[in-house]
Amino acid sequence: MNHASLEPKPFQPAHYKWWERGIIYQIYPRSFVDTNADGVGDLLGIRSRLDYLQWLGVDAIWISPIFTSPMADFGYDISNYTDIDPVFGTLDEFDALIADAHGRGLKVILDYVPNHTSDRHPWFVESRSSRNSAKREWYIWRDPAPDGGPPNNWLSNFGGRAWEWDEKTGQYYYHAFLKEQPDLNWRNLEVQKAMLDVLRFWLDRGVDGFRVDVMHHIVKDPEFRDNPVNLEWRPGMPPYRELLTTYTSDLPEVQDIVQKMRSALDEYDERMMVGEIYLPVERLIAYYGASGKGAHLPFNFQLIGLPWKARDIANAIERYEALLPSYAWPNWVLGNHDKPRIATRVGAAQARVAAMLLLTLRGTPTMYYGDEIGMHNVPIPGEQVQDPYEKNVPGLGLGRDPERTPMQWSGEEHAGFTTGRPWLPPAEDFESVNVAVERKSPNSILNLYHRLIQLRRAEPALSVGDSAPLPAEEDLMAYVRKAHERSLLIVLNLGARARNFNMADLKCRGSILLSTHVDRGPEEIVDELELRGDEGVVIELL
Ligand code: NOJ
Repeated sequence: MNHASLEPKPFQPAHYKWWERGIIYQIYPRSFVDTNADGVGDLLGIRSRLDYLQWLGVDAIWISPIFTSPMADFGYDISNYTDIDPVFGTLDEFDALIADAHGRGLKVILDYVPNHTSDRHPWFVESRSSRNSAKREWYIWRDPAPDGGPPNNWLSNFGGRAWEWDEKTGQYYYHAFLKEQPDLNWRNLEVQKAMLDVLRFWLDRGVDGFRVDVMHHIVKDPEFRDNPVNLEWRPGMPPYRELLTTYTSDLPEVQDIVQKMRSALDEYDERMMVGEIYLPVERLIAYYGASGKGAHLPFNFQLIGLPWKARDIANAIERYEALLPSYAWPNWVLGNHDKPRIATRVGAAQARVAAMLLLTLRGTPTMYYGDEIGMHNVPIPGEQVQDPYEKNVPGLGLGRDPERTPMQWSGEEHAGFTTGRPWLPPAEDFESVNVAVERKSPNSILNLYHRLIQLRRAEPALSVGDSAPLPAEEDLMAYVRKAHERSLLIVLNLGARARNFNMADLKCRGSILLSTHVDRGPEEIVDELELRGDEGVVIELL
């Protein structure tokens, strides 16, 4: 790992920013807690569970979009950036939530969706009203190709063409996602001003940061060239991937916009942005910006995309660390509202190992609601499908409803999420997999998460310390985290077979602090560490 490039900072959490030393917890608000029995979660619901989040020990909550929206893409289609959708509550309720969260030392991160608005946003309504509209240039309008068809071959992420014909004004508009989500034209200075003011609106209200939706998509090729064909595409893969995104994402000009967002944040104290960016790591790190004046954290999704194999993951960690510029702080993510849940991808036993990995790696961890109780993907019967992606491109398993089901609070009806009819069905196993039951069970995954978080908070070696990989074989991964003179060894078994890890070369003894099985006490290890299948341990080196 490239430690030489790390600017020396004392390994004391107080010297680090909250978003460096802390843990982020993502809430998908529709599915967290419903207090008014409409079947959809709300702000009062989130507020009512701050006790739980505090007990869990996270430092910040990121709430997916809560703004006024026709909900074509469940809030990622915004028709008013500076108000709360009535399904979630009111601005007053938001202010109360933020005050309550801050009172408990919890930070609040909102979603910022700059790439597109809803087609019902007054800006778009005006833009599409006439070719001479003052807001025509706020969106991306083009004449048809000579044959009358779309201006070029660009595809929508959600299936089909990215161009929608507008009969009244005789032009096409561009939408990287649904046709109900027209893309803003960020080359237009008025758009820039209006959208940067959106950041200021929420910053003035006390918001601590933003998760920036599809940050790399914001600017498009000014010549509207066709995207090249992706030769690796095969049937069964998302149709969107039939083309490379050469001219629709990660253009150099995106960096200028990111810098402007950063400057708006820098008008305030200690605010941050984390960019949603699905790019190869060597491109991802560009989003930290020149001299670190870009995104504070470009989301690192490698643990979501990689095969769950010890060598692949260990290599990816080393590579990422080696590529990080000196000013860049790492981060890691196991799941989100767009990807299958970790427990479904790796199984219940490995989900515990994944928790230990996430919470012992160097870099800010982001957790996804419900992963801490081991929630898995819930199969959604056809007639109950909500996600427009699944509706547009059915049958390929691309739909995102399965990872968005109601949080399982208790064994009561609808998992204690609502007293109404939930917008998506809770998992069938909610009577045993829920917060109430797991809090009482010392060996539950929830108590493992709780213990891991407490350990991370208590040990500067874990929250802000240095990190070095150790050689390990087969299904094992091992690394040491260190702050001052204190060293912690983490050994993870990513397979189901028992394995031994040789500690003799380390020339020190160890004592187990925590096992993923939560059943091993302080136990002295001299030469050989015996790990059961699917077990990970944190060891204090003596
Ligand atoms: C990424 C978001 O995470 C996803 O849920 C959404 O559908 C698209 N961006 C469009 O905003």
